[in-house]
Amino acid sequence: MLFKTLSNLDDLAYYGKKVLMRVDFNVTIGKENEIGEDYRIRMTIPTIEYLTKRGAKLILMSHLGRPKKTEEMEYKQDDKIQRYSRSGIDINVRKQFSLAPVAKRLSELIQVYNVSFIDDCIGSNVHKEIAKMDRGDILLLENLRFYSGEELNDYNFSKELAKLADIYVNDAFSVSHRKHASMYGAASLFDKKIAGLNLQKELEYLSMVKDNPIKPFILVIGGSKIKDKIGTLENLLPKVDKLLVGGAMAYTFLNANGVRTGDSPIDYDHFQWVKKALLTYRDKIFLPIDHIVTSQSFLKLKKEELSINEKKEGNDNSKVHSLSAATTSLSLASSPSSSISLNKGNIQDGLLGVDIGIETVQQYSSMISQNRHGMIVWIGPMGMFEIGLFRNGTNNIAKSMALAFWRGSKTIIGGGDTLDALKKAEVSELEVTHVSTGGGATLKFLAGDEMPGIEVLNKIN
Ligand code: 3PG
Ligand code: MG
Repeated sequence: MLFKTLSNLDDLAYYGKKVLMRVDFNVTIGKENEIGEDYRIRMTIPTIEYLTKRGAKLILMSHLGRPKKTEEMEYKQDDKIQRYSRSGIDINVRKQFSLAPVAKRLSELIQVYNVSFIDDCIGSNVHKEIAKMDRGDILLLENLRFYSGEELNDYNFSKELAKLADIYVNDAFSVSHRKHASMYGAASLFDKKIAGLNLQKELEYLSMVKDNPIKPFILVIGGSKIKDKIGTLENLLPKVDKLLVGGAMAYTFLNANGVRTGDSPIDYDHFQWVKKALLTYRDKIFLPIDHIVTSQSFLKLKKEELSINEKKEGNDNSKVHSLSAATTSLSLASSPSSSISLNKGNIQDGLLGVDIGIETVQQYSSMISQNRHGMIVWIGPMGMFEIGLFRNGTNNIAKSMALAFWRGSKTIIGGGDTLDALKKAEVSELEVTHVSTGGGATLKFLAGDEMPGIEVLNKIN
């Protein structure tokens, strides 16, 4: 990569300068404005501290969620910025998608520097607020996506953003696949555009996975959507030694392999791709040999319970999650009805797979934990881990990943869900070599797709 990193500039280059830094503070915010997982916020702190310590005035910008506009504003190139701005967003939407709670969390995390927040991201009020900043101060701007110019990578909106500062920093790897104004258009208007420390770290590990994986290389892939993972699989399948498949996507693989999968969801749109992959890489691809199965009606019941509990207590933190394979088999045997069972081989109609079974857990776990000095990449849960009863497979994969790490493997975990799964399994981030902040961005990067937010850093004005 050609781009500059923070240390390419002398410390003095930051002193008293206004630095506009794109971060990804797209986190979950609860009903009481409480922040869910704050990993993405915490991961930007090294760059924030690097810059504030060197006397920069740090202006942070981010999106949050996908706020719906009450009316899609039509924008014409010669219109004033105000015309397509705040009026398109309903007041309740503005409240729901405000970054104000994130500013509060950030100021708790950063004690020594002053964090403030302004309820806009361009225009005269923002300029006034910036004029008041001292060296080392931090200002978080309001959600960029309140302006349609952000997602349109609009030139005028980009210009307004670029006017705010002297230096541009991207520390938002997880949005770098989006060609949006704050990632691309605005960045391209700066002479000094720099990669932040977290972006650098992400690229270091993920480039290793993509271009130069340490062998033996095991890829563990789960979750439901095959479509999002095809690029990554096409790129990595030739390089992996083993691909361990779990999650809902495993049923499409099994079905394509001639196994009966009952009522499990099958992705017919990508069925032919899966068939071909199975044919080409037959020796490397491992599929579940047994499953936890249940009926649609029991699953529906569990999902309803989950959403009631989530409403009551915020997040589902039920303690069922520390079940080992052995205790699961006990709880299955003693389960009051036949609502859940362990199923080997074909799954009969009326039942669907919701987690990998005990033998699969044992097989996958031992391959992972015995991959000493190799590399293991894990993307996507092994089953419906948000429901405690169907969490055993994912839990055990998380625990085996930790064991592999302690035994000297390089372990890399990607995707929002997988981080959540790690937490539920009580595996700490410190027991993983690298946890990516990205979901979609990580898959795009591993697929070798274009990453506008990174490519723009290489552009010379
Ligand atoms: C993410 O959560 O994947 C990033 O913040 C990007 O968000 P987006 O998918 O809404 O563009
Ligand atoms: Mg996304």
